[in-house]
Amino acid sequence: MTGFFRQHGTLVCDGVPLSRIARAEGTPLYVYSAATIVERYRAIDEAFASHPHTLHYALKANSTLAIARLFRGLGGNVDANSGGEIDVALRAGFIPPQIVFTGVGKTQAELAQAIELGVKSINAESDGELERIDALARARQTRARVALRVNPDIDARSHPHISTGLKTNKFGIALDRARDIARRFSRREGIEIVGLHAHVGSQITDLEPLTGAARALVALARELQDDGVRIEHLDLGGGLGISYDGSPVPSARDYADALLPAVRDSGLAIILEPGRNIVAPAGALLSEVVDVKEQPGGKLFVVLDAGMTELIRPMMYNAFHRIEPVETASTREVLVDVVGPLCESSDTLGKDRRMPRPEAGDLFAVLDAGAYGAVMASNYNRRPMPAEVLVENGTYSVIKRRQTIDDLVALES
Ligand code: LLP
Repeated sequence: MTGFFRQHGTLVCDGVPLSRIARAEGTPLYVYSAATIVERYRAIDEAFASHPHTLHYALKANSTLAIARLFRGLGGNVDANSGGEIDVALRAGFIPPQIVFTGVGKTQAELAQAIELGVKSINAESDGELERIDALARARQTRARVALRVNPDIDARSHPHISTGLKTNKFGIALDRARDIARRFSRREGIEIVGLHAHVGSQITDLEPLTGAARALVALARELQDDGVRIEHLDLGGGLGISYDGSPVPSARDYADALLPAVRDSGLAIILEPGRNIVAPAGALLSEVVDVKEQPGGKLFVVLDAGMTELIRPMMYNAFHRIEPVETASTREVLVDVVGPLCESSDTLGKDRRMPRPEAGDLFAVLDAGAYGAVMASNYNRRPMPAEVLVENGTYSVIKRRQTIDDLVALES
């Protein structure tokens, strides 16, 4: 068994007791299971085996160097969303043809960096950006490989904050303008249009919108081919969700079954940019109970040493994460709100949870926190970023040391 499960009542990661890791490294602490990442990466890769495809792991989900290197070791590629993520990809050993570069607000410096490196594709968001890419590439006497990020006006039916495929969203080029824009820019000296891209949202558990986006890209690719544009690939983005609460969700195979029939006949290679689906279940946030307090009215608050600064998803998207005591206790069950230590009432990790009455000093694990957890951490209230450890082959190593107050103030005068 891999990942987070109970062994003799105690929660372990790939067989290593979380209590042992927390005792040695302190809390709050992110713990990742390498085996889970490997398994989930391979599940998607194998599900798509019957069609030419490349997996470009979305670094934004978790870009700690050791995690990025793990993907490189698996033969993966990456999707970078900023100059910083491109830099991290290079430091992790990826080469430019393994990188696609997405992002709604790429700066001149970031575009120049991507063009000079010669990344596999810059996923262009607008005609304005295409103009800038063309000028930057021509000035460097080169041609930039570009994919048009298309906005297919499809509702991903996910949380509105992470749905990106509606025409009212800021992302991409409207589908009905894309053909005209592609035709115009395919004649530019600085631009080589090599693909089409769509990413309609994240934590998608109803696959219909993904099928719809794939169909729209295939139809557009046909039109562009008629216009003489040589499309090499269709980039279908990321978005496949996971089950945070145990309810059934599509598998990697379901995902492939939803996408492959739509693209098969096009004969075009596809790119996928999975993030969450691979790394979310591979990570847990460990935290110690600092206080258990009962407020007037009988509400019981369990105050942890982790909160919105370590995991902002519950506060930002009303996201549900399972929160479990690392050691099982036989005390009677109570209804609690699990909260963080920050000066915000919305600093709540879990509302109305039933669990054995905890005590100060108990250890808790917030599960499925491997994606959009550590990467979205902040220093609010001068809280140092947590340490991160990777469990691999029965042992663990610290892949990011805990930030110190010295680290924090080092940037200040
Ligand atoms: N490709 C592009 C262009 C994206 O914008 C994203 C995510 C992905 C791929 C990866 O999507 P995934 O497979 O992870 O769903 N912070 C939010 C999620 C934001 C997702 C942004 N884009 C959260 O914690 O739920």
